[in-house]
Amino acid sequence: VLDVRQLYSQTGMFTYDPGFASTASCESKITYIDGDKGELLYRGYPIEQLAEQCDYMEVCYLLLFGDLPTASEKEDFVHGVTYHTMVHEQLKNFYNGFRRDAHPMAIMVGVVGALSAFYHDSTDIRDPKQRLIASYRLIAKMPTIAAMAYKYSIGQPFTYPRNDLSYSANFLHLMFSVPCETYHPSPTLERAMDLIFTLHADHEQNASTSTVRLAGSSGANPFACIAAGIASLWGPAHGGANEAALEMLEEIGTPDQIQTYIAKAKDKDDPFRLMGFGHRVYKNYDPRAKVMQKAAHAVLDELGVSDPLFETARELERIALEDEYFIEKKLYPNVDFYSGIILKAMGFPRSMFTVLFALARTSGWIAQWNEMIEDPSQRIGRPRQLYTGPTRRDIKPIHERG
Ligand code: ACO
Repeated sequence: VLDVRQLYSQTGMFTYDPGFASTASCESKITYIDGDKGELLYRGYPIEQLAEQCDYMEVCYLLLFGDLPTASEKEDFVHGVTYHTMVHEQLKNFYNGFRRDAHPMAIMVGVVGALSAFYHDSTDIRDPKQRLIASYRLIAKMPTIAAMAYKYSIGQPFTYPRNDLSYSANFLHLMFSVPCETYHPSPTLERAMDLIFTLHADHEQNASTSTVRLAGSSGANPFACIAAGIASLWGPAHGGANEAALEMLEEIGTPDQIQTYIAKAKDKDDPFRLMGFGHRVYKNYDPRAKVMQKAAHAVLDELGVSDPLFETARELERIALEDEYFIEKKLYPNVDFYSGIILKAMGFPRSMFTVLFALARTSGWIAQWNEMIEDPSQRIGRPRQLYTGPTRRDIKPIHERG
């Protein structure tokens, strides 16, 4: 491993690495990706096993504490998290300040950042107890805050959390219950929601996680750091891709249009890309996309929905995977390719897709943030640059310029 610190101090040299494609910014014990094999491990456990055998609360525990919980550890953890599901009543005022048609991600960035103004007893990052309470608070409150953003956008009253439900069932209740009718998700939908959370929980040093770490490296409080992560996740090249992928499938419409869009994606003069395809690290099938495709079947069957977009998606995948361009560039479906189809079938509006991603990724962000704070070699993140602007010059009086 190249010790860049040594290289810089001994020679004054530093590396130029746009997009940090070959720069490790930290050491981490949390998530491992083998992009060539298409393998993803959380703390050593394969994502397929976690998706099949664990629920999201166990995954959160695993990411935060390093191993899967025993039954009693899980009980304590779930109790600790559910204790914090409510938000301060005054927080409602923040929602009222947004336009009714505000994108829920815009609301998320603002409201999550505002948590630091409410929970002063969990902003001292040097105190492990305060860090733990902040972690619990963030994991617990995200579903409440996310559902409030949705309810606000459709003009319905906010729903209060139910601590007798699982994390995922509670979120579905927050989203879809109304004062006159409680929403009861079927076990298949509750499981699918939980699976989506698990698949999105962490993914090593992606743009939003790196943003959380960079913001945190200055000593900023955890709520501010997670708000920064949410902002970074919003972009269509990252978390916004699930929304963009469904939009693209709707635009393609029927399988007979696929070739036109494949041609557009291959055309260097056309900025169009197949959304939900390609990944900086995976040069093989994203293992999360496989689990997601299977879950899409289960959800559509359960709901008795036959969504033609699912057929279009599968046909698009089949055609792309046989196409020279995609083979040569190693472009495969990523986690976002099928998630939109499931979320749409479950009744989520497109504008909430990235919010769900943010909710699920909060466990990974906060685990990574804690790991960074506890790392004795941690110092403020401060990349260098290659300066390409003017050389030194002197200012002329204003009448002599131009
Ligand atoms: N469709 C068509 N061509 C693509 C695609 C795509 N989806 N993705 C990459 N390419 C091509 C690029 O045009 C480029 O071609 P070139 O070498 O001829 O210039 C080559 O593949 C490499 O692409 P880069 O953009 O350099 O790869 P990078 O690692 O920087 O980007 C990214 C990865 C952003 C995910 C990219 O594949 C993309 O934009 N995909 C679509 C958006 C998407 O699905 N994002 C979700 C990512 S997963 C996540 O955040 C959960």
